[in-house]
Amino acid sequence: MRRRWVSAVAITMAGLLSLTACGGGEDGQGASGGEAAKKQVEVFSWWTGPGEADGLTAMREIFEKQNPNLTFFDAAVAGGSGDKARALLTTKLQADTPPDTFQGHAGAELQGYIKAGDLEPVNFLYDELKLRDVYPKQLIDQITVDGNIYSVPVNIHRSNVLWFNPAVLKEAGVAGAPKTIEEFITALEAVKKTGKVPLSIGSEWTAVHLLENVLLGSLGTEAYNQLWTANSDWSGPAMTKALQDFQKIMSYAGTPQDDWQPAAKQVADGEAAFNIMGDWAYGYFHNPPEGGLGKTSKTDFDWAPAPGTEGTFMWLSDSFTLPKGAPNRDGAIAWLKVAASKEGQDAFNPKKGSIPARTDADKSLYTDYLADALSDWSSNKLAGSIQHGVVVNDAWRTAINEAVGLFQQDQDVAKLQQALAAAAKSSGQ
Ligand code: GAL
Repeated sequence: MRRRWVSAVAITMAGLLSLTACGGGEDGQGASGGEAAKKQVEVFSWWTGPGEADGLTAMREIFEKQNPNLTFFDAAVAGGSGDKARALLTTKLQADTPPDTFQGHAGAELQGYIKAGDLEPVNFLYDELKLRDVYPKQLIDQITVDGNIYSVPVNIHRSNVLWFNPAVLKEAGVAGAPKTIEEFITALEAVKKTGKVPLSIGSEWTAVHLLENVLLGSLGTEAYNQLWTANSDWSGPAMTKALQDFQKIMSYAGTPQDDWQPAAKQVADGEAAFNIMGDWAYGYFHNPPEGGLGKTSKTDFDWAPAPGTEGTFMWLSDSFTLPKGAPNRDGAIAWLKVAASKEGQDAFNPKKGSIPARTDADKSLYTDYLADALSDWSSNKLAGSIQHGVVVNDAWRTAINEAVGLFQQDQDVAKLQQALAAAAKSSGQ
């Protein structure tokens, strides 16, 4: 835990130093002489933690090989799901000192940056690299406003995954992954009797991640997708039931861990039975030690769609941007080209636990869990993630996070429902 804090502070300091460096020189050059004289490219993300950093490193290696005149400056800010990173990013954007490129989720989150005028369109890259032919049209729609495209998606992640420890389930007499919310609650109760943690949980945002999964599983895909339209129903009985399900499921959660990794680790170590988390957890479970836990799939950990969500892929996509006023615009474009490339995506995604956003990737690289994800992505119904920026913008997400935070203290379902309905009404989205 101490290590994480140290790295968060170090990274924030690095971010501040680079902010000063960028302010001091038009060309984004660091200290003079040798390696430092190369032009630096500040890449802003939140991939510092075990599992996630592996993917970034793989893409960085390609970038450095292809651009010997550029230095990759890792401005990542620690903290899963990027809540802390986005807070710093907002400050940087408001001060007109953007990084050269930053990570943003395709969908409503990105649309927020576009509407705020923070981004340059990158249509020229789509033309030059013929990217319209290799990205799914629905994905391009999520990053387009008025015919302009504003980012380069690097992956597709799945939010609705139930990770579980087969041995802990066996010990509790649970025959397999629960398929419905009701079966899930029965399984959680059975695990509780063994003394193990039924459901592991991480920091605050992981409760919202759990909520989006319970909403999808309890309401069904059609009603969930309607929540983001003019026909939404936040106040009716189906939502009350979904929130009661959420309350019940949360009552089986263990002690909140520091972030998503330690919560996932409780499953891999056999301390907990279940964890509902995005498939970045796969990279963490599976990658060799140092970057990951080096665990064996199907033995140390296994997966299934989150209860009640089989046949639906709740998706999100990490994309990189070209901020207006990027100190090293050419360097940023060089990074975007790697992020857009087949080579870059095929290096990044198997490590990150995601599948490529491009449709022409080398499928043989995506085995085990990732083969399931590829096949479900092309055949399932789709739903967008709340916590990871697809269906709600940052303001709406913050309101949902606050409502869930309060609920964890007062356990008042009616109040939570009112707060969620109010957040939807005032979202202005
Ligand atoms: C998501 C992001 C993923 C992963 C996850 C946990 O928001 O899209 O790439 O990093 O957070 O940090």
